[in-house]
Amino acid sequence: MSRKIVVGVTGASGAVLAFEALKLLEAMGVETRLVISRGAAYTIQHELGDDGMDRLCGMATTVYEPENMMAPIASGSSPGHGMIIVPCSMRTLSAVAYGLGDSLLTRAADVTLKERRPLVMVTREAPLHLGHLEAMEKVTRMGGIICPPVPPFYSMPETLEGMYTQIAARAVSTLGLERVAALKSWETP
Ligand SMILES: Cc1cc2nc3c(=O)[nH]c(=O)nc-3n(C[C@H](O)[C@H](O)[C@H](O)COP(=O)(O)O)c2cc1C
Repeated sequence: MSRKIVVGVTGASGAVLAFEALKLLEAMGVETRLVISRGAAYTIQHELGDDGMDRLCGMATTVYEPENMMAPIASGSSPGHGMIIVPCSMRTLSAVAYGLGDSLLTRAADVTLKERRPLVMVTREAPLHLGHLEAMEKVTRMGGIICPPVPPFYSMPETLEGMYTQIAARAVSTLGLERVAALKSWETP
C-alpha cells in the first residue's frame, strides 16, 4: 500500500513551509491528502501570492474542502500513515487539544491521534502565553508532536529557501516515514 499522509494547512504565518513539505513528500513518493483551513486563505495569498492556493493544491494528490466531513480522512477506518499540520495556528492547536473536530482539518487531526498515528504540528506563534503552552502539553500527552519552525542555524543555510527546506525537512522527518534526503544532519566539523 502506498504511504498516505494528511497535510493540513492553517492560517498561521509560514505558508511557504506547506509548499516545502508537500514538495518533500512528493519526492518521497508519498500520497498527500491536503486540507486547507478557511483562515489560511489570507496567509497563503499574502505570503505566496494570488496563485498560492492553486500552487499548493497542485502539489497534492487529493484536495478536500475543510467543510467536507464526508471525506475519507474524517474516519479512522480510512487507512493512513499520519498527518502534518504546517503551519499550525494557535486556533487549530487549541481545537486539536480539546478534540473539537469542528472542521475536516481538526477532525482528521483528532482521528490521527485516536488511531495512534503520528501527528506533527508545526506550531507558529511568538511569544507564547500559558494557554498556548498548556495546549501544546495536552497535545503532547495525547501523542502529538509539537515541532515549531525553528531555524537550524548550525546547518549554515546560504539562502532563505535553503532555510525553509531544512525547517520543513525536520518536520516531515518527524513523521517517521524514512530519512528525508534533503535533511542535513549534524556532523562534527
Ligand atoms: C497575516 C496573518 C498572519 C497570521 N499569523 C499567525 C500566526 O503566526 N500564528 C497564529 O496562531 N495565528 C496567526 N494568524 C491568525 C490566524 O490566521 C487566525 O487565528 C485564524 O482564525 C486561524 O484559523 P485556522 O486555525 O482555522 O486556520 C495570522 C493571521 C494573518 C492574517
